[in-house]
Order: sequence, then C-alpha cells, then structure tokens
Amino acid sequence: MIADHAFELFGEHAFLALPGFTEAFGTTLKIEGLNPAGSIKLKTARGLVEALERSGRLVPSSALIESTSGNLGIALASVCAAKKYPLTLVTDPNANQASIRAMRALGAEVIVVTERDANGGFLQTRIDCVRRRLSADPNLVWTDQYAHPANPASHRHSTAVEIMTGFGLPDWLFIGTGTAGTLMGCVHAFRDVGGPTRIVAVDTVGSVTFGRAARARHIPGLGSSRPSQLLRDDGSFIKVLVPESETVRTCRQVARRYGLLVGGSTGTVLSAVARLAPAIEPGSRVLAVSADLGDRYLDTIYNDDWVAERYGSEVLRDEPDAARPAPVRRKDELINHA
Ligand SMILES: Cc1ncc(COP(=O)(O)O)c(C=O)c1O
Repeated sequence: MIADHAFELFGEHAFLALPGFTEAFGTTLKIEGLNPAGSIKLKTARGLVEALERSGRLVPSSALIESTSGNLGIALASVCAAKKYPLTLVTDPNANQASIRAMRALGAEVIVVTERDANGGFLQTRIDCVRRRLSADPNLVWTDQYAHPANPASHRHSTAVEIMTGFGLPDWLFIGTGTAGTLMGCVHAFRDVGGPTRIVAVDTVGSVTFGRAARARHIPGLGSSRPSQLLRDDGSFIKVLVPESETVRTCRQVARRYGLLVGGSTGTVLSAVARLAPAIEPGSRVLAVSADLGDRYLDTIYNDDWVAERYGSEVLRDEPDAARPAPVRRKDELINHA
C-alpha cells in the first residue's frame, strides 16, 4: 500500500506477547506507537478533524486549536500539516520536551501554560487559554478532544475493531483513561458484540476522573485534573488507579525484560494487570493497550535523576518482579474491583 498522507500509515495489527509477565495467564500488548505520530492519538486526531470537515465546521480557510498533554498535539500536528490547516497547541510543563519539539517541527504553534488550576493541574488553565483564543478569532476551530463524540467513535471503529480482528475477544481488556475516548469507544464496541470481555479502565492516582481527590502528577497521557466529559460510568467496567511510582517501575522493568521501551500509560495499564492478577482466572487471554512507546520518556521515566527526585531513589532499587503482582497497598488505589 502507498499512502497518500502520513496519517494513513497505521500499524494497527501489532500485538506483542509478554511471556511470564504473570504466571497464571498470558498478557499481550496492543502496540499503538508504530505510526507516524507515535501514539494511539493519531486515530483520535484524524477522527476529530474529519468529523469537523464532514460537519462543515472546518473549511479550507480555518485554523485549528487544541489543548494537549503531548500525544494528541503531535498527532494533530501531523494531520494538520498534511491537510494544510494552521494549528495552535496549548500544553503545559508536564509535556515532554521532545513532544513539544515534535509539535513545532511539524509546523504547529505551541503555547506552554505554567499556572496551575484550582485542582493543582494545568488542564483548566489550558482550556481557559483555548477559550480566550477562540473568542478573539472567529476563524479558529477547537477540535475539543474532551467532549467531541468523534473521539470515542474513532476508537469504536478502529481500536476496538483491530482488537477483534487481530486478537479476537480478550477475556480481560485493560485501557488507560485520559479523555476516556479510547475507553468509551471500546466499551461501546464490546458491548455491541456481547462477548465475554471484561474491560478495566486504568488511571493514575491523583487524577479526578474516577471521582477521587486531585493530586500532583508528573507523567503525561493518563489522568485529568477535571472531570471527564466523555466517561459514562454505568458499572460495566472495572476501575483501577495506579500510583505513578509503580508506573515508573513497571516501564523500566518491561524495557529490560522484553526489549521494548514502553510509554508511561503502558506501564500504568500493565501495573493494573499485575494488581488484578489474583482475580483473573488462570488461562485467561488478557490484552492491554500500549498507547505509545518510550522514546518520549527518556528524560523522565527512564532518567534515574528525574525518577529519584520525584518518587525517591527506592523506586530505582525496588523494581518488583512482574511475575509477582504488587499487592494492593491502599484501598483507594483499587476501586470497584468486583
Ligand atoms: C500515552 C497515552 N496513553 C493513554 C491516553 C489516553 O487516551 P484517551 O484520551 O483516549 O483516554 C493518552 C491520551 O493522550 C496518551 O497520550
């Protein structure tokens, strides 16, 4: 296949088995970092832009704006470069420097807000900045990944279908939660087929998405400092919260054990697999969505000084054996585990 645009190059059927990750069942990763934007958000970005084009809201003279923690920004910059839309991205100090450089290299204007919002995060500050720009420029269109139905729809029609056709119906499916677009798209698609798949929504301790108190977080991708507009918690999925220190340990361990530098949210979803392992029937087929790879995290998750400064040097020493799941240490780290 010869693609017409970079954003049409997807590695949609990349699955990697992780032998021995847990003893009683096999764990497989769905690798989403093998596309020109390096993350699952390329599907979201394309879905959002093309939905706006179809609705007539986006015309050739339009310019786009979005708030992003990194991956959606790179993905939108890739789509907008190919489609010739000027793009402004509003991000914050938690975004990786490499991501910001990539957004600029792809032609986007990047604004980095530095003021924390009332919950101690940056999301509301970023959105306030987007709204100010929108009110000043009628030509500007907000893709609004936080609320646009094209976000979950893009995953319902891509990610979920790729899982069903490339892997089959997993017994357990672990999905990280940022905007909750990937999660809700998969929840709807798997509900429609009515199979045995139990879905686990995974987030970071300190995120408010599952109704818990906000706390400072340092790893971009998962989590939110304001309630999700897309999440519909009808009790059909299990929710697990993972502390960032455990995310870091798991990422570093997976890199050394399997030769794959995984991104932060992959460490988080795999930590959730390890946490839930005692409840998963032996022989189950477990799939976890790996939203990006680790090269964007070399200065953070894979940098000893950065890790020791934020989580303590014991995180570097005390790397747990993934074959022995970390015990659930505090009640609020595991919710709705029924
Ligand atoms: C690395 C990574 N993992 C997971 C997610 C969460 O995806 P969603 O916004 O669909 O919930 C994101 C979102 O930006 C991400 O960048």
